[in-house]
Amino acid sequence: MKEPILLGIESSCDETAAAVIRGRKILSDEIASSAQVQAKYGGVVPEIASRLHTDAIDDVVSRALRTANVKKEELDAVAVTYGAGLLGALLVGLSFGKALSYALHIPLIGVNHIRGHLAAAYLEDEELKPPFVTLLASGGHTAILYTRTETEFEVLGGTLDDAAGEAFDKVARILGLPYPGGPHVEALAREGKPCIPMPQMLKGAGGYSFSYSGLKTYVINYVHTMSQRGEVWSRADVAASFQSAALDILVKKVVEAAKEKGADTVTAGGGVIANGYLREKLTEACRENGLRLVLPAKKRCTDNAAMIASEGLIQYRAGNFSPLTLNAAASIPLK
Ligand code: KG4
Ligand code: ZN
Repeated sequence: MKEPILLGIESSCDETAAAVIRGRKILSDEIASSAQVQAKYGGVVPEIASRLHTDAIDDVVSRALRTANVKKEELDAVAVTYGAGLLGALLVGLSFGKALSYALHIPLIGVNHIRGHLAAAYLEDEELKPPFVTLLASGGHTAILYTRTETEFEVLGGTLDDAAGEAFDKVARILGLPYPGGPHVEALAREGKPCIPMPQMLKGAGGYSFSYSGLKTYVINYVHTMSQRGEVWSRADVAASFQSAALDILVKKVVEAAKEKGADTVTAGGGVIANGYLREKLTEACRENGLRLVLPAKKRCTDNAAMIASEGLIQYRAGNFSPLTLNAAASIPLK
């Protein structure tokens, strides 16, 4: 049977992205990021994000088709993020996707952004099949999931307060680093040592719950106290200590979850999975425990459209299409 060709579109935050896949093969993966513009404001300004998506989307989609060497008439479906994210930003991609679906008489598939992060692993390993356990860590979510079939997953546990990425962004601000914080904290951490004892919340607790608010408060208090006392302290050591406190627990819990579920495969997704320290620790822990790790390339951990097309393919095969009345949703429960 001929493999379907899908266009994926993503515009939930500050990246305008479009990608074309044939089956699980990536034919193109284009992105225009407004992160540098947003950095001036210390975070994403929704109105600016929407305007920049509007400016970029036509060109990004054209580039994705051109690079893939696919004519729009050859597309079998268009998959587009409908949530969660910034409403105005989502509406740009969704409206564009709807117009293509209508004009080309092809199905529209509304994709849940988080399910897109989960589906990124299918592009990394074309043979990947459930069941597997996933570590999901982005700016909005931190959770451990068990995927039973391509369309069914179970949330084993998640954060009780901030997401891991959110904690990185907040700590970056405390340390005077620019937006987006995660990669800057990682770079600074490389120059320091994890020598400051920091709380690893819920380390011993059962289940797969996480909490980042205590760790974040600890960093704020540490920095303020040291500065007020005029003591010498190292920003790099704070970054390294925070990074290991925030990430070691995720590695430990995902390995525990795989063992509990009897799964031999671990996957990962979301912006925080682009962190080099986490990737090393996860690789090491899976090797030590005899688990197969499917780790998406860094650029497919942060927001991208190939992962949206990948989730679109799962829904396409399941026959789950969306009506043209589909609206954008600012938040969608993980389950
Ligand atoms: O998945 P993503 O691109 O967008 C959301 O769906 O949220 O994740 C963005 C989050 C941000 O909080 C960003 O600081 C974090 O992922 N992030 C990182 C790294 N790269 C991105 N966190 C730690 N280390 C990184 N290298
Ligand atoms: Zn994301």
